[in-house]
Amino acid sequence: MNQPTDYRYLLSSRNDASKKKQSFYIKTYGCQMNERDSEKMAGLLLQMGFVAAESQDDADIVIYNTCCVRESAEDKVLGHLSILRRQKTERKFILAVGGCMTQQKDMVSLLETKHKYVDIIFGTANRHRLPEFLWRVIESGERVADISEGDENEFPEITDIPVTTREFAHKAGVNIMYGCNNFCSYCIVPYVRGREKSRPVLDVIEEIKALAKDGVKEIMLLGQNVNSYGGEWWEADVHIPATGECHKYKPEKNATFPELLKLVNEVQGIERIRFMTSHPKDFSDELIAALRDLPKVCKHVHLPLQSGSTRVLADMNRNYTKDDYISLALQLQEAIPEIAISTDIIVGYPGETEEDFADTLDVVKRIQFSGAFTFIYSKRSGTPAADRTDLIPRKTANERFDRLTSELYPIMTRKNEAKINHTFPTMVEETTGYGIYKGRINDHTLVHFRSKQELSPGDTVPVQINTAKTFYVSGTH
Ligand code: SAH
Ligand code: SF4
Ligand code: F3S
Repeated sequence: MNQPTDYRYLLSSRNDASKKKQSFYIKTYGCQMNERDSEKMAGLLLQMGFVAAESQDDADIVIYNTCCVRESAEDKVLGHLSILRRQKTERKFILAVGGCMTQQKDMVSLLETKHKYVDIIFGTANRHRLPEFLWRVIESGERVADISEGDENEFPEITDIPVTTREFAHKAGVNIMYGCNNFCSYCIVPYVRGREKSRPVLDVIEEIKALAKDGVKEIMLLGQNVNSYGGEWWEADVHIPATGECHKYKPEKNATFPELLKLVNEVQGIERIRFMTSHPKDFSDELIAALRDLPKVCKHVHLPLQSGSTRVLADMNRNYTKDDYISLALQLQEAIPEIAISTDIIVGYPGETEEDFADTLDVVKRIQFSGAFTFIYSKRSGTPAADRTDLIPRKTANERFDRLTSELYPIMTRKNEAKINHTFPTMVEETTGYGIYKGRINDHTLVHFRSKQELSPGDTVPVQINTAKTFYVSGTH
């Protein structure tokens, strides 16, 4: 059998031999999964001897890692591509477009016909083949369009990249699963990210141990629905840095998400554990207990509501009712009084009546969310909701959006005001200079604060809160 070509080796050798190292720039759209994917691609490129460019204007390789969850996300990418089209006439560089947007066949056709200046089109499932695609373009100047899913057993995780390619030194996202099986009627994610598969526990824990060794103190466990972790496993090549061992690993027994949290809680050096996203339909009593009892697990849950109307929720295929959601949130608040619950809400879903919308406002009032991402429904072709004809006029949707935020924002402000004159351990995220820092409280509240001490990201210090706004609080150390 032929050995597969090692394109990583070929590119490394090429970079080693050249006088001027080729540079790359990655622009990321969308969610934390995409951010983490970009970090991994950056790790891969650095490992092959490419260097990071300051901006896309002087990079030899420009990579767009795209999102298509709403039409506006795609419009943003297409808008930026037209700038690159102009740049392409002025200087030579390789342009690669990958991610969720290009996982759609129609989008590949559009890019192939209308955006011929794009050199590489790749998807979400084959991003680990980027070295091969780059090699083909560099060596033969051909255009590559490939969004193939690849071998079922080919684990998309690139486990041996340098762990230091993170955006933040002190915190990291860690994928615990890929894809989604929920098929909410409005959502494109299951179509562009494929079926839900969990990473083996050992693989996740080894990555977190390696990150902790590299100075990471906060971990964000990532998945479209982390609560259903352990449903179906990937088989993975697990590299154990401590022993140098590498072996195929597919666990016999499925660990649940609360069990995984317990294991992460034991990793030395990790101080805070966060996770997102939690689907309300899969929130178990064990998970509530884990949140309550595990000291490193932060007291914050991102629990997308989407709509407060039981009728709309059924239309959306969310598998819970208004009452289910409320009783889950109340149960969480009762078990963990200091918990912060944030959410995602969509307004203007097809057929949403004034009564349906009133139910959404009602849940907002009753649960008192600490934060919310609010969206106007955006039609995504290929999803079941795209066939609906009972669309809500834009004016009505805009008006509901404004009414929703005017209900939400005062609640968020009041919740922040309640922190005034209290002191919270705050983990430094970044410094803005002149002794001013940005940090986060355990419950994820953003804190701007002053300190006379020289602090670094990852340090945790007590901060007394003096003032509160809707999206942050301010204080002094
Ligand atoms: N897996 C996560 C969220 C993924 S997408 C979950 O289930 O909660 C992030 C958010 O985008 C969703 O929670 C939803 O509120 C919003 N969203 C997804 N598709 C959308 C669409 N077609 N129009 C408007 N908002 C959408
Ligand atoms: Fe989309 Fe629903 Fe899956 Fe979240 S759970 S990614 S909203 S289909
Ligand atoms: Fe967007 Fe893909 Fe994330 S569609 S929200 S980048 S999973």
